[in-house]
Amino acid sequence: TASNHVRIVEVGARDGLQNEKTLLPAEVKIALIDRLSSTGLRTIEATSFVSPKWVPQLADATEVFAGIRKVPGVSYPVLVPNLQGYERAREVGANEIAVFTAASEAFNRKNINASIDESIERFMPVLERAKADGVAVRGYVSTVLGCPYQGDVPVSDVVRVAWRLHELGCYEVSLGDTIGVGTPAKARAMLHAVAQSVPIGALAVHFHDTYGQALANILACLEEGVRVVDSAVSGTGGCPYAKGATGNVASEDVVYMLHGMGMETGVDLDLLVATGAWLAAQLHKDTASRVTRARTAT
Ligand code: HMG
Ligand code: MG
Repeated sequence: TASNHVRIVEVGARDGLQNEKTLLPAEVKIALIDRLSSTGLRTIEATSFVSPKWVPQLADATEVFAGIRKVPGVSYPVLVPNLQGYERAREVGANEIAVFTAASEAFNRKNINASIDESIERFMPVLERAKADGVAVRGYVSTVLGCPYQGDVPVSDVVRVAWRLHELGCYEVSLGDTIGVGTPAKARAMLHAVAQSVPIGALAVHFHDTYGQALANILACLEEGVRVVDSAVSGTGGCPYAKGATGNVASEDVVYMLHGMGMETGVDLDLLVATGAWLAAQLHKDTASRVTRARTAT
């Protein structure tokens, strides 16, 4: 039987913020990550070393990464699209990175200006360098349950790309429903198919909540055996290349559901809620977390 422990990969400071219109100063991002570090989370994605022209919000990646408190036992992975990003990340001391591609050709073209194969070619040298440097690499596959440009994405394409990332040395592959269109039975079938090629222990799920299906999808995937879930405090974000797509599922809501099911995360829900409420105030918007809304209602 699968373990009772779920590892939350907190992506709010990266995936969440990358598409927020309100530009936050570096010190606020540092405060956010430092607060998250005290909640019991073990994996906190900190920022992206991508082109600042493509993602202006994260142009301060170096300053943010240098400024955060590195709590022992917590990892702070960063997104890296190419060697230039890898070098910037290493210069400031990052020792875990994430590379990303998609199961849809059309999406990759808009997101990183490359085909799937080209994107893999592009980060191959990154993976080689990481291996030599002892840097852990996570891989992301986007658009696993639908693409804003091509529509349906065949499960076989998801399997092929996830397998490739794992084979190239990614210790974990995160399957992203980038635009939040998936539903539970589809999510479960997709995960089941990928798990025939990549061990389930090396898979994570990454849901956006556009259609309000994220928690249901996570539950279906937990039943299929996944034990790593990506989420963003306060449910911030969206996708710059997917109109109308909302943020990641809120970490508070995932933790509340898991604890309610008797599963453990090591995360202190009260501290997470306080952090989510604080972040929403920094962004001058209402939190997207139902739990934080319920707990902070006046
Ligand atoms: P490009 O324009 O095709 O590449 O972008 P380029 O190599 O021609 O570079 C253009 C300019 O960017 C050059 O500067 C480079 O030096 C600079 P210029 O000469 O014009 O002054 N540049 C960089 N600067 C800093 N750091 C770098 C870097 N690389 C190039 N690393 C590129 C190609 C990949 C760079 C670009 O498309 C890019 O940065 N894309 C990032 C897009 C992104 O971050 N998207 C969001 C992340 S994916 C996601 O959110 C999905 C996920 O959450 C899962 C899910 O939900 O499904 C992970
Ligand atoms: Mg995402």
